[in-house]
Amino acid sequence: MSTQTTSGLAIETAGLVKTFGETRAVDGVDLAVPAGTVYGVLGPNGAGKTTTVKMLATLLRPDGGQAHVFGHDVVREADVVRGRVSLTGQYASVDEDLTGTENLVLLGRLLGHGKHAARTRSGQLLEAFGLSDAAGKQVKHYSGGMRRRIDIAASILNTPDLLFLDEPTTGLDPRSRNQVWDIVRAVVAQGTTVLLTTQYLDEADQLASRIAVIDRGKVIAEGTKGELKASVGAGSVHLRLRDPAQRPEAEQVLRLALNADVQLEPDPVALTARLGTARSDSAAEQASRALAELARTGITVDNFSLGQPSLDEVFLALTGHDTHDAHDSKDEVAA
Ligand SMILES: Nc1ncnc2c1ncn2[C@@H]1O[C@H](COP(=O)(O)OP(=O)(O)OP(=O)(O)O)[C@@H](O)[C@H]1O
Ligand SMILES: [Mg+2]
Repeated sequence: MSTQTTSGLAIETAGLVKTFGETRAVDGVDLAVPAGTVYGVLGPNGAGKTTTVKMLATLLRPDGGQAHVFGHDVVREADVVRGRVSLTGQYASVDEDLTGTENLVLLGRLLGHGKHAARTRSGQLLEAFGLSDAAGKQVKHYSGGMRRRIDIAASILNTPDLLFLDEPTTGLDPRSRNQVWDIVRAVVAQGTTVLLTTQYLDEADQLASRIAVIDRGKVIAEGTKGELKASVGAGSVHLRLRDPAQRPEAEQVLRLALNADVQLEPDPVALTARLGTARSDSAAEQASRALAELARTGITVDNFSLGQPSLDEVFLALTGHDTHDAHDSKDEVAA
């Protein structure tokens, strides 16, 4: 089956709405997800990520607007859509009491694979996901990272055209996150489109070609990583001085030389200048001019780095609040 539609879009939504009582969980979302890419949906707790994914995966019926997956309406052609998508949920779905192999073989059989084919495919996936050694262990004895990997393995037993990964690395340690990221890259390399929700800005940055930032049920920004970053700034210059007594003067020099926002760090010798975007010179040019100016004034710089703006800064600039603001207490209640 081709994964291409005439539009080249795997997902297209217009004015998608879902309400729960008074809560407009999804409040008029427009998305256009190109086929064959990783698309990141980035937002804090309660932003509406899971609700959006569930409507696209036909698990929840929208209250308004439209959504098409590979050109098929998620309500009127739900069966067709279901045949082409797979979902790895935020809260996992494999059977705790079965082993890794038993889970995958069982699911494979449910998907209609023969006994032999189901075993072969399970073995391949366990191997590819670094779970061969744990294949015979009950899933309840898996670590969080192993658990997440077996969940993803289970959702790609049949290679789906579109895979939804709902916060695939929340709560994982850095090493396990990297393993999951490698898996996502491998899945996309095989032609599957991935819609990934995340609260981690670096995760969207690492994996996604385009990102939609959602907040309180609305898309507040959309674009390539570069476009999103450009809406915030060209980056930051981080400086450490030899002498803390020179910091007030350094602050002034930087402010004048760069016409930038300068921030004093808790470390008494450190300061950060946020570079502007509306300038014709590059971040590197601005930074070298600042260094030259500091040297001319007799300020000794011990250490210097030029950083790209983080997606955290993007979020702050777009919403006026940081990503740690929770909008509700659903998680505490659910936990
Ligand atoms: N079944 C439900 N009944 C009532 N309210 C719900 C239900 N599901 C979600 N909500 C509410 O809708 C809003 C969006 O929730 P959703 O789970 O989509 O957010 P999310 O972005 O996935 O958050 P998280 O990062 O915590 O998973 C929240 O205010 C939530 O409390
Ligand atoms: Mg969620």
